[in-house]
Amino acid sequence: MITIRKEGPEDVKQIRRIHVSAFDTSTEADIVDQLRRSADPILSLVAEEVRHGGGQRIVGHLLFSPVAVDGPQDPPAGMGLAPMAVLPEYQEKGIGSALVRHGLDILAEGHCPFIIVLGHPEYYPRFGFEPASRHGLHCQWKSVPDAAFMVKILDGDRMAGVGGVVRYHDLFDAAL
Ligand SMILES: CC(C)(COP(=O)(O)OP(=O)(O)OC[C@H]1O[C@@H](n2cnc3c(N)ncnc32)[C@H](O)[C@@H]1OP(=O)(O)O)[C@@H](O)C(=O)NCCC(=O)NCCS
Repeated sequence: MITIRKEGPEDVKQIRRIHVSAFDTSTEADIVDQLRRSADPILSLVAEEVRHGGGQRIVGHLLFSPVAVDGPQDPPAGMGLAPMAVLPEYQEKGIGSALVRHGLDILAEGHCPFIIVLGHPEYYPRFGFEPASRHGLHCQWKSVPDAAFMVKILDGDRMAGVGGVVRYHDLFDAAL
């Protein structure tokens, strides 16, 4: 059985292992470790497999960290979805989707106005993400294709009239 919960201190090593296994380099694992120390607030979720007869294992991880829109009108801060990884042998079983849905629910309950993701344009629209450019929001990295930079607006009233370049924590510059 897979359950989704917030990370605890005991999960840190396993989370690192998941990112190193799922990506080609340790860049994402390093970003997760550094964001834990320097970004606030973060939402860090793990997918935990609880085995019959006892024992558990972390098989997926998803982090959200703050993003800000450049602009003159002091726009509300949102959250960025990244990095996310599922152990290769556990992929394609719905674990990534469960992590995303759980995170979106928590952030909506916490009145987060919008969530940004830079990722696969075939994957994230199923959760309600759409091209951010439709809402006047643009990626800070010019090399990112328009379709890969997506937003899910959670509070349309607070986001009315908000537009500009969305900035992640500086640590993400290492990944681009
Ligand atoms: C992306 C990832 C987190 C998805 O987790 P998952 O548990 O396999 O996802 P789910 O089982 O919930 O969903 C599977 C769907 O994701 C799609 N998907 C997975 N990787 C994808 C990719 N690289 N590009 C496009 N779609 C992808 C699958 O095609 C599948 O689509 P379907 O439901 O239409 O068949 C996982 O594949 C992973 O860790 N990949 C390597 C790291 C990575 O790319 N992280 C995301 C960075 S944006």
